[in-house]
Amino acid sequence: MPSDLNQKIYVAGHRGMVGSAIVRNLEAQGYKNIITRTHAQMDLTDQAAVKAFFETDKPDQVYLAAAKVGGIHANNTYPAEFIYDNLMVQNNVIHQAFLNGVKKLLFLGSSCIYPKLASQPMSEDALLTGKLEPTNEPYAIAKIAGIKMCESYNRQYGQSHGVDYRSVMPTNLYGPGDNYHPENSHVIPALIRRFHEAKVANAPEVLIWGTGTPKREFLYVDDMAAASVFVMQLDKATYDAQTQPMQSHINVGFGDDISIGELAQHVAKVTGYQGKIGFDASKPDGSPRKLMGSTLLNQLGWSPQVQLEQGLKNAYAQMLTQVEFLAK
Ligand SMILES: NC(=O)c1ccc[n+]([C@@H]2O[C@H](COP(=O)([O-])OP(=O)(O)OC[C@H]3O[C@@H](n4cnc5c(N)ncnc54)[C@H](OP(=O)(O)O)[C@@H]3O)[C@@H](O)[C@H]2O)c1
Repeated sequence: MPSDLNQKIYVAGHRGMVGSAIVRNLEAQGYKNIITRTHAQMDLTDQAAVKAFFETDKPDQVYLAAAKVGGIHANNTYPAEFIYDNLMVQNNVIHQAFLNGVKKLLFLGSSCIYPKLASQPMSEDALLTGKLEPTNEPYAIAKIAGIKMCESYNRQYGQSHGVDYRSVMPTNLYGPGDNYHPENSHVIPALIRRFHEAKVANAPEVLIWGTGTPKREFLYVDDMAAASVFVMQLDKATYDAQTQPMQSHINVGFGDDISIGELAQHVAKVTGYQGKIGFDASKPDGSPRKLMGSTLLNQLGWSPQVQLEQGLKNAYAQMLTQVEFLAK
C-alpha cells in the first residue's frame, strides 16, 4: 500500500537508468515530495557532504540507486574505483540515513553477488556459498557489504530505532536511460546501437561475439522500479515472515531467459535491420546461463508486466531521441 504521499523520499542516483525509473514510478503514484541531488551537487563518496544533506533535508525514506556501474571492461580496468566508490556511497548513505532517523531504505544490489558456479536459477540462499566471478569481484563484494550493512543495522537498531532497511537484487536491466557507449555498455544497448548503425550504413552483416547460445535474463527498467517500490511498501510483518535477519535480500528477475542469438533476432526486428546476423565462435561465450530465481518475489505478489519485444521497442525509441548519440 502506498504510504503517506507527503513523505520526503530521497532517490539517490535519480539521473541513472534505475533511479529515474523509480522517480517516474513514485510520481505516478502521487508522491509529492521527492528529493534529488545530481552527482555534481553532491558526491556521495564525500562523507561530509552526505552528512550535511541528511541533516538539512531530513528525508523519511531513501531509495539507494546510485552506484558506480559498468560492464566487464570497466570492471577490469577500474577495480579500485568499483570497490572504493561503491563502498563509500553506500556506507555514507546508509549510515547518515540511520543517524538522521530514516526508518525505511531500499538498497539496490546486483545478480553478480552470487557465486560464479551457483546452480540455476540462482535463489537468495546462494549468497556466500562459493567464489565470485573474478572480473567483477570488487563490485560484487561492495554490493554484498551493502546487503550486510542493511541487515546489521536492522539487527542492531531495528527494535530500538525502528530501522527497516531492505535490499533488492535486479537481474540485467534495459530500457529508457540506458548507456549506449560503444565500448562500455551492457548487451542490450550494445546490440541496439550496433543494429541501428548497421541499418543506417546498409551493412550486409552484424557479427555477434560468441556462439549466440548462452542464455541471459532481461528485465525492463520500469518493471524494476515497480518491484523496488513494491518491496519498499510491503508491510513489515510480511517482509519479515518471508526473509531472515541474515538473508533478507530479494531477487528481482523476469522469470525466464533467452539465448543471445534469439535476442539478436528481436533487436534486428525492432531496429528494422534486414541484413544477416553472424556469430564469431572464436570469441568467448561466458557462462552458459544466468537466471535469477524470483519465486520469493512472485509469492509476495509481484510479477513483471513488460514483455521483451515491447521493452526493446520502448528502449529503441528513447535511444533515437538522444541527440548526442545520433551525432556520433
Ligand atoms: N543496469 C543494470 O542492468 C543493473 C543490473 C543490476 C543492478 N543494477 C543496480 O541498479 C543500481 C542503479 O544502476 P543504473 O543502471 O541505474 O546505473 P546508472 O544509470 O549508471 O546510474 C547510477 C547513478 O548513480 C550516480 N552516481 C554514481 N556515483 C555517484 C557518486 N559518487 N555521487 C553521486 N552520484 C553518483 C550516477 O551519476 P553520474 O552518472 O553523474 O556518475 C548515476 O546517475 C546500481 O546499484 C546497480 O548496481 C543495475
